[in-house]
Amino acid sequence: MQIIHHLNEMTALSLSWREQGQRIAFVPTMGNLHAGHLALVEKATACADRVAVSIFVNPMQFGPSEDFNIYPRTPEDDLEILEKQGIDAAFMPTVQAMYPRKPADMSYVDVPGVSDIFCGASRPGHFRGVATVVSKLFNIVQPHVAVFGEKDFQQLLIIRRMVGDLSMPVDIIGLETQREADGLAMSSRNAYLSHAARDKAPLFYQNLNTLADALKQGAAAVGVLKNTTRDILINEGFELDYLDVVNQQDLSPWTPGQPGVILAAVLLDKIRLIDNIKI
Ligand code: PAJ
Repeated sequence: MQIIHHLNEMTALSLSWREQGQRIAFVPTMGNLHAGHLALVEKATACADRVAVSIFVNPMQFGPSEDFNIYPRTPEDDLEILEKQGIDAAFMPTVQAMYPRKPADMSYVDVPGVSDIFCGASRPGHFRGVATVVSKLFNIVQPHVAVFGEKDFQQLLIIRRMVGDLSMPVDIIGLETQREADGLAMSSRNAYLSHAARDKAPLFYQNLNTLADALKQGAAAVGVLKNTTRDILINEGFELDYLDVVNQQDLSPWTPGQPGVILAAVLLDKIRLIDNIKI
């Protein structure tokens, strides 16, 4: 496994692979790798000759009052894990190399509409930061295919839109959410949870599941079912950011009978958890 810090070295390596006719799969991450990330790496390994994984905690996608400075950084553990997975390149650029100028002076990629709702409404500028860094990473790594998790359903939709709108020659693969045994979606932020909060956290997914079952059965009007789930979560001690049922294609209000998805974000002990279930 090559560990690469410089942008031009990463591009040179990718171009040498391309010259040999090899197919390159890419998994962008912010590190602190868990089994959710590893499922993406395995998928990438299965669909290409070469696999590159980036580890970059992207300041552009964090708001001024968010957790950029304390976001968990475990580069040594991450590299050990990636080495065991047998990937070809771990790309770990510095912030200075990725953003030599002030973010405010930078060109950026904005995917309108879908970036401004749900997580985008609570985290203004977040998806601009994601779309910008992912397009930079695509230009540097030059992959044929990139793998993202459905855990971040809105992010995956925005990446797909960006790639389509800008004709980026990268196939996007989405992989199902990997969960702990009790159903909690794996996330680097789970490590912040206190013991009590960690015990309570699985209720988030359990309630979404109950809602999904009720929606599938048409048990009551969608609005009533959503409100019941919201009330239950609040009673259980979750602070609700949003909970909605939307169409998978464009995140507009769900049309029963069409492919839908429950999207939700809560705060538990000030820690933000997101999850979704397709219906
Ligand atoms: P990060 O949170 O590190 O996640 C990297 C990738 O892992 C994303 O595609 C995410 O959806 C996926 N992932 C995280 N938890 C998962 C789980 N439990 N099951 C399946 N996939 C999971 O998402 C980001 O980083 C950043 O926004 C990034 C795309 C790297 C841009 O900076």
